[in-house]
Amino acid sequence: MSRFLLTRTLPEHATDAALRADVLHGLTRTPKTLPPKWFYDARGSELFEEITTLPEYYPTRAEREILLARAPEIAAATGARTLIELGSGSSEKTRLLLDSLPELASYVPVDVSESALRGAATSLLADRPGLEVHAIVADFTGGMVLPGTPGPRLVAFLGGTIGNLLPAERAAFLASVRGLLAPGDALLLGTDLVKDESVLVRAYDDAAGVTAAFNKNVLTVINRELGADFAPDAFDHVALWDAENEWIEMRLRARSALTVKIPELDLVVHFAPGEEVRTEVSAKFRQDRVRSELAAARMELTHWWTDEAGRFALTHATAV
Ligand code: AVJ
Repeated sequence: MSRFLLTRTLPEHATDAALRADVLHGLTRTPKTLPPKWFYDARGSELFEEITTLPEYYPTRAEREILLARAPEIAAATGARTLIELGSGSSEKTRLLLDSLPELASYVPVDVSESALRGAATSLLADRPGLEVHAIVADFTGGMVLPGTPGPRLVAFLGGTIGNLLPAERAAFLASVRGLLAPGDALLLGTDLVKDESVLVRAYDDAAGVTAAFNKNVLTVINRELGADFAPDAFDHVALWDAENEWIEMRLRARSALTVKIPELDLVVHFAPGEEVRTEVSAKFRQDRVRSELAAARMELTHWWTDEAGRFALTHATAV
């Protein structure tokens, strides 16, 4: 019996076109910006996996602790027959989640990486042969169409990745998630929490320099894809806490005056000494903000679980 289906909703070359548009837009405005989604080529994904094992980077371990400790409560809260996982990537957390969902008939992982989807599905099916897996290659920020799968549905968006969206993008994203749900269906959302500034900054500026390499990798991606001539080491990695917005910002700061050519865009970009490109925001949350942003998207916060140390939260919210 065939239990694996894959649907591609990203038009071919959509990624190319989006990268070009983002780089052109981001490097011709002041201040310069690049969206964080371009970190994740094969090397960037590998570096991120390495980040999750660093002593300073606590979110992955904190979320795993919650998934492990709260599995029975998560199971009791949902009774889901279909799990839709956004940005599923590799499947380690998914396994913990699936172990909480014995009623599950159908799993719908959504990711931009077809190879990650295939790898994850193959290993999951080995453990849960009865499960139907319908993988979708899509950008979860772009709004997607789901296969007809049995309800109730649970959409999971783990890892704290929602923090990479700016407030307006977050509102649009939550509204589009709500569009996938019927009343009574639910969202399981991972969010990193506001905490001591020094702990946060260290998590994004580790002693071994892995996060610095991850940050600079976006320049390597642009070099390869658009023929640019960025020298990644001409930039310093910067991580800072924005107390007003309650988010971490990563930036790349030009060590000196620089000129960079991007032939595929017919573009020459100038950097003043010390000029910065913002490459990521990673918002940190409080329960009030999570509750009110969910409410604005017609979802009601129904459970709030944190790790023992209160560093990270998993929220269960019901569509109303
Ligand atoms: C995968 C988006 C949750 O924002 O903490 C890790 C990415 N950036 N270190 C985060 C990241 C720098 C990470 N997310």
